[in-house]
Parts: sequence; structure tokens; C-alpha cells
Amino acid sequence: MSSSLDELAVEVLRTNDRGGYTVPTARLYPYQWNWDSAFIALGLATYDRKRAWQEIQFLFEGQWENGMVPSIIFRRNDPDYFPGPETWQCNDCKVLSTGISQPPVAASVARSLVESGDQFDREFAEKLFDAFYGWHKWYHEERKPDNCPIVATVHPWETGRDNCPDWELGLNNMTVDPELEAYTRMDTVHADANERPSKEQYDKYLTIVKFGRDHNWDQKTLTNEGPFLMADPCIHFILLRADRDLLWLAEQFGKSNYIDEIKGWIDEGVKGSEYLWNPKIKAYCARDVKTGEFSDGFSNASALSFYAGVGSESQMADTIRNMQRVQSKVKFMMPSWDPDAEDFEPQRYWCGPVWPQMNYMISIGLKEHGFDRMADNIRNDYAALIEQSGFFECFNSVTGEGCIGKQFSWTAALWLAWISPRKNAIAA
Ligand code: DGY
Repeated sequence: MSSSLDELAVEVLRTNDRGGYTVPTARLYPYQWNWDSAFIALGLATYDRKRAWQEIQFLFEGQWENGMVPSIIFRRNDPDYFPGPETWQCNDCKVLSTGISQPPVAASVARSLVESGDQFDREFAEKLFDAFYGWHKWYHEERKPDNCPIVATVHPWETGRDNCPDWELGLNNMTVDPELEAYTRMDTVHADANERPSKEQYDKYLTIVKFGRDHNWDQKTLTNEGPFLMADPCIHFILLRADRDLLWLAEQFGKSNYIDEIKGWIDEGVKGSEYLWNPKIKAYCARDVKTGEFSDGFSNASALSFYAGVGSESQMADTIRNMQRVQSKVKFMMPSWDPDAEDFEPQRYWCGPVWPQMNYMISIGLKEHGFDRMADNIRNDYAALIEQSGFFECFNSVTGEGCIGKQFSWTAALWLAWISPRKNAIAA
């Protein structure tokens, strides 16, 4: 079974290869996506290390002068996708792109490749070190609002957790720009509308894009004056983990000039995590920076605290208790939204399905903190989902059916890097 799944997984990555970069899936997402490519590199590395590093290099070809690595790199205009480069109008960058970023996993992936590799991997990672550093610095400076102790986000798309109910607080506090141009969605042409965000959500997503465009993509203005500003456990915990991995890389490569600054980011990130602790549900939750209000659901991003290495003993115990509660309500861990919440929908994108890359990071963090049983459940559920349904973008957490994109690259890549018995020792 596994070896034929290995072959199918490699086939998915080959089919989605566009020459130097890999699309998440044909038609629905026809460009290079930021965190997708980082996870894809882990899978590619199981059979072609040169191609794995090329995936990361191509992503950083889209890096802006200010250090930001955009969420999508548009190498050509593809009518299958909306909103494309003509909507974003980010024309000052080297390669056309969006004007927002995504969770910064690349430095953590680079560390995994160096730890499992040889001199070849060290040379690539060292060449890319300044690019990783520049991106982290951009997050710490341009996405750090004045009134918030941690980085925040300006757009649900930047978090990668597009329509998670976490964002309803921020979206409810903004209005749709009355001058928003009429538009035609393409995602609902390629995927079931019941599994995708609503029209109201899209109007708001595009209102934020319009704000960025109208302000010439000045990132500080977007952060401090934009229509939406929330703190996200997904970005915060992934950045904190990636800062720790960047520090490790700096030490490996003798980059002593960077060490104090990176340590400062880590200290700030650990202390700032308290900002996300929601005493009502006893978990790390998203929070609206404008109002201070917490989101009251336990998401799969809440469970990334272990991956970031934060939380007192009692906060860890509370987080595990929340995970056990969630586990008792679904068949497959770890749903993207709280099954006790009214707006839980096990098939709709970030409102309840299981996401491969999230399970991967959550499980690594749990293992590192000695929660082996929960870590193994999360890994085994992901393996069972693939065996039941194939390489989908995400999976219904109650039935296990595959949702949205088929032949999905990060699902195939993490199968190869994390689950397959034949994997190289590159991941947990
Ligand atoms: C989409 O188009 O759904 C993407 O998630 C935006 O990045």
C-alpha cells in the first residue's frame, strides 16, 4: 500500500511541477504559493535535493526589497485564478506577486534539510540565510503594530487560514468598500462552493486588497491603518519557531552579527505569546488588535504552541485538555475549527477540515514536549485520511472525505517526508 502511495505522491509532485516551482494543484491554484512551496520542498528532498532547494530559491526570487516574501508569486497570468496580478497591482516587485505574506516556514524547512543532509544542503541554506533573515525582520518591523506585543496580520489570506471563524471578529468590524469593483470568482468554478469561503467574506477580502493597492502597498500603512488587524496564533507560533531555527542556522554558519537580534525576537515572541492566551477557553486564540477581543474557539493554530515552544506546564495541560475535548467530537484530528462552535463545518475549508501541514507541525511540537500519544494520533489520523481518500487539499474531519483541491502537492509532499516508511530522515 505504502509503496504505491509513494509512487502516486511523486506523480502528484511531478504533475504539478511547472519548471522550478510546484503549483499546489492544477487550475484552482495555478501559481507558486509561499508556505505550500516550503512544505513541498520537504517532499521533493526525499528524492531530489537539488529540486527541493530550487523550489525555495524560486520562492525567494519573489522577495520584495523590504524583505517581504509574498503569499503568491505570479510568473504568468492565468485566467483560471482570481484575484490575479491585475487585481493586486504590485508592480514594483521583481516578479509579480500579491502584496501580503504567509506563515514563514522556510527557515524551519531549511533547518530540516541541513540536519538531514550534507555539505550540499549547508551551502544552499547558507546562500539563502540573508533572505530568510530579511523576511523575518520584515515581519518583526512591518507587521508589528504599535499597540500589540507580537506581530499581527492584515488579511485572512496572509494567515493561510482564509475563512477560519477566528477572522469573523475583524471582518465584522470592517465594511465593504462601496467602490469595490465587480468581480467574478474562479475558485467556485473549480471547487464546490460549500467547501469555500462565502461571497460576504470575499467582498471583505477584496476590500483589504483595494486598501493596499490604493496605498501603493505601503506595508506600515496597511498594518497601522488598514481595515483589518488581528493577531494570529498560526503566524505568531510559526514565526517564533522559524526564529529559533534561524538562530540555529546563524550559529551553524558563524553569523555572529545576527545572533543578538534574533535572540531578541525570540524573547519578545515568548513573552508576547501571553497576549494570545484566552482565559475563557484556556487556550491560545486569535485576537482582534483593534478591540482587544478574543476569538472563542480552539483552532488547529491554537495547538501550534508546542511547536513554538511556549506555555507554562498548566497552559500546556489546558491545551492538551482542549485537544482531548476536540478529539472526542471528530473522527480525525486535528480539525481547523472547534467542533463545539456553532459555525463548525467539517467540510468547509478552515471551518473544520483536517489540514496536512498543520498536523505535521502540531505533531512535531507535541513530540518535542513529550506528548507522544497525542502526537501519534495526529500523525496516524493524517496517514489514515490519505489511505482512505487520497491526496486532497484537506479532509472532512467527521467523515474523512477529501475536500476541495485534488492531487494536492503539500499533501503528497508530507506523505513522502513524514509518513512513508521509505522516507528519508528529514522530518519528525
Ligand atoms: C485562495 O485563493 O483561496 C487562497 O487561499 C488565497 O491565498
